[in-house]
Amino acid sequence: MSTVYLDGAYVPKDDAKVSVDDRGFLFGDGVYEVTPCYGGVPFLLDRHLDRLRSGLGWMRIDFDVAGLEDVFRTLLAENDLTGAETSLVYTQVTRGVAPRAHPFPSEPVEPTVYAFAKAWTRPGPGRWEQGFRAITVPDLRWARVNVKTIALLPNVLAYQAGVEAGVDDVIQVRDGIALEGAHNNLFAVLDGTLVTHPLTNVVLPGVTRGLVLELARRNGIPVEERPIAVEELPTADELFFTGTTSEIKPTVEVDGRPVGAGRIGPVTKVLHEAFHREVDRAKRAGW
Ligand code: PDD
Repeated sequence: MSTVYLDGAYVPKDDAKVSVDDRGFLFGDGVYEVTPCYGGVPFLLDRHLDRLRSGLGWMRIDFDVAGLEDVFRTLLAENDLTGAETSLVYTQVTRGVAPRAHPFPSEPVEPTVYAFAKAWTRPGPGRWEQGFRAITVPDLRWARVNVKTIALLPNVLAYQAGVEAGVDDVIQVRDGIALEGAHNNLFAVLDGTLVTHPLTNVVLPGVTRGLVLELARRNGIPVEERPIAVEELPTADELFFTGTTSEIKPTVEVDGRPVGAGRIGPVTKVLHEAFHREVDRAKRAGW
């Protein structure tokens, strides 16, 4: 059984219990983070911790993320993941335990801090090369999507719609704009330019997104951060999602229509290789 971290203790997962008065359980009042690890080394750890810190700040949950690096190290070691090709650490911080009432607890309470580590696997041999399929779905989310809150019901429903449609991913659309996936950011190659939505309140500031933009610029690929109209999708030469566990995930069909030539395109391939070079470098550099 895996060992998880809960409120300062490392315990077998079955022994980890959270109060029914936890505000995460009652209200979805918390934030989370998913950090990818390669060879047991967290990738872009500082960026993930920075995003968690800023989410906590926005939520006004008083918790210092500085101690989490040690937690990650222990969880990876305790769960035999130091040699795992691909693993992740999930971290969740809620406002804590208090009798149910909408306002923040009048007396300060300790936040509930939960973390676990687990392996994940890439698509099987040859699968990535075939590309993936997506559908568009309405974006039902709230007005602060840029905060990584644990309240993920719209994302769950969006993802489930994709599962029921027999596709691999979904593109959430609001006001005619193709924003992002259920758990990953969206990029399109339009007229030779790599386009993704700018960082506003309607998309998550993905860590992978940020790296991919840097890699594109370094590789001389023209980049534009602007909204992508849903009508533009059929005219895209390439489409891909980015994210932890998605890495760079090419989409070759949207709503039953091929994207470009219906094959993985050259920009996606260049960025995929550049991404994996970054991963290898981080792995070799160690922790
Ligand atoms: N999801 N957009 C949304 C809505 C997300 O939930 C995520 C991450 C991303 C990509 O962010 P990053 O590149 O930092 O992983 C974009 C995580 C992995 C999840 O919910 O499991």
